[in-house]
Amino acid sequence: MTGNALTSVDISVAFEGLKALHRVSLSIPSGRVTGLIGPNGAGKTTLVNVLTGFQKPDTGHVSMDGLQIDAAAPHQIRHLGIARTFQSGRLFGDLPVIDNLAVTGVGMGLSRRDAEERAEAVLDWIGISALAERQAGSLPYTDERRVAIGRALMLNPQYLLLDEPAAGMSAIEADELISLIQRIADEIGCGVLLIEHNIGMVLRVCEHIYVLDSGEVIEDGVPAAIKSSEKVRHAYMGTQADAEGDIL
Ligand SMILES: Nc1ncnc2c1ncn2[C@@H]1O[C@H](COP(=O)(O)OP(=O)(O)OP(=O)(O)O)[C@@H](O)[C@H]1O
Ligand SMILES: [Mg+2]
Repeated sequence: MTGNALTSVDISVAFEGLKALHRVSLSIPSGRVTGLIGPNGAGKTTLVNVLTGFQKPDTGHVSMDGLQIDAAAPHQIRHLGIARTFQSGRLFGDLPVIDNLAVTGVGMGLSRRDAEERAEAVLDWIGISALAERQAGSLPYTDERRVAIGRALMLNPQYLLLDEPAAGMSAIEADELISLIQRIADEIGCGVLLIEHNIGMVLRVCEHIYVLDSGEVIEDGVPAAIKSSEKVRHAYMGTQADAEGDIL
């Protein structure tokens, strides 16, 4: 399994002239947590959309473990083992938590019964079995995020892309999320991409971090290198991260 990765090479995307991504290359290795940070509008979600088939790139390629996948549709990419969460929840609010997960299992071809069993196992693995019968729409935001991760894990993914999973969380809740993310990489062997505005969290959990600004990768490296990068500091100038001082 060593050397496996989800990679993008030279990805560009323009929306009516606006360069959302410009020649972006990155690699998300199996079994590790990779970070993607950058100011609002930097292109982070657009990149996840490209990696998951929701957005076709104007140029460049995406490959998973050497297989080129950028022509595939989102459902095909899901079947190949790439799962994501969305910045805006997207759970079925009227359904109990267990059904939110089971529906994904059924969509993957499991029988209703097998899907429910798997959903129970996933909730248990995350440590949120107590939420199984709760209506998803009634959950506090932080539980909703964990259920969304559970739903992504139903796919038994080889790669998991998390778009701002800690948004709205307290420091303690973010800590719990860090351990969950670390377990996903260590115990499942998943390659995880973590997009976060909580840069302290990214610096702690990620082995390698990419920094996007105005659609371009302006820096990438290990946390210590990102922390001391002048370019990164400059990209965040005048933003909340800079104002908080201790973040970078
Ligand atoms: N479907 C679209 N049509 C037109 N413009 C878009 C579309 N999607 C994104 N954009 C623009 O592309 C740029 C990158 O957006 P994107 O959502 O990828 O940024 P982001 O880094 O995820 O930001 P945030 O941190 O706020 O989530 C922004 O200027 C955005 O307005
Ligand atoms: Mg985004």
